[in-house]
Amino acid sequence: MNRNLALEFVRATEIAAINSARWMGRGDEKAADQAAVDGMRNMLDTIPCSGEVVIGEGERDEAPMLYIGEKVGSGGPELDIALDPLEGTTICAKGSHNAISVVAIGQKGCLLNAPDIYMKKIAVGPDGIGAINIMDSATTNLKRLAQKKSCSVSDLTVIILDRPRHEDLIAEVRDNGARIYLIGDGDVSAAIATALPDSGIDLLMGTGGAPEGVIAAAAMRCIRGDFQGILVPRNEQDIERANKMGIPDINKVFSMNELASGDVMFVATGVTDGSLLKGVQFRQWGAITSSIVMRSKSGTIRHISAEHHFDRKPVY
Ligand code: FBP
Repeated sequence: MNRNLALEFVRATEIAAINSARWMGRGDEKAADQAAVDGMRNMLDTIPCSGEVVIGEGERDEAPMLYIGEKVGSGGPELDIALDPLEGTTICAKGSHNAISVVAIGQKGCLLNAPDIYMKKIAVGPDGIGAINIMDSATTNLKRLAQKKSCSVSDLTVIILDRPRHEDLIAEVRDNGARIYLIGDGDVSAAIATALPDSGIDLLMGTGGAPEGVIAAAAMRCIRGDFQGILVPRNEQDIERANKMGIPDINKVFSMNELASGDVMFVATGVTDGSLLKGVQFRQWGAITSSIVMRSKSGTIRHISAEHHFDRKPVY
């Protein structure tokens, strides 16, 4: 895969972030998402690749743009693309923390075509490698992680989506004496937070979207953390959807490498301020964006701050 490609994709997350950030705090999730989709869709076609959206805005009949199977790019190497133009639509609409625009890129066939159903997830940063197993209880995972980090369970902080379905999980973590950081949305940023030394987050647990699981797995591969997931169907239809998308065993435990294999790249731009990235800042002359570009092959992590001068005329 062309090493410069991820740097091209950052233009797509930047424009999506700028567009959706205009809608920050305005209470309109749909408009914020649509603005991000429009910006990203246009920019993707300027990138020299033959990309196929494997994780996108939904099935072709429900999403007019960036639907699963849509071809993007201006021609070039064949790529799988997993994207979320606005990860955290509610976060953006409320003006709270950690909304991002994100794209993960893999060689053809390397990103799991995950159905839009739930996935149980667990993630740790590089210092937790070897300590997690999604098949074990929260108690066992916490004890092993504490041992690995040479601390006590009460020193650990677990990030969990604040949902009624996590009532038992939250109770178990509390019984163990660990601290909890409950979030309203955004479990891609949450997974990455486990790998950021200053985030204060040690472990992600709980159930969120499966598509977000694939994107998070790509990021965790680049950052050398760990991620595991199991699909959580709510009904027969969910199982059928998974089967249709090439997953015959609904109980399969997906390792990070099975979700995102080969040479993967991960690109994100902050929409609102967060632990990973600063949000878009508007100025009288334009906007400032903050992005991260990572690649699994090299392990390189680039932080890109960009000034977008809307008022400048082209100079040749
Ligand atoms: P959207 O950006 O599509 O709103 O997703 C936000 C999110 O919080 C994800 O980060 C998470 O995986 C999923 O929604 C959780 O789903 P639910 O809100 O149904 O619990």
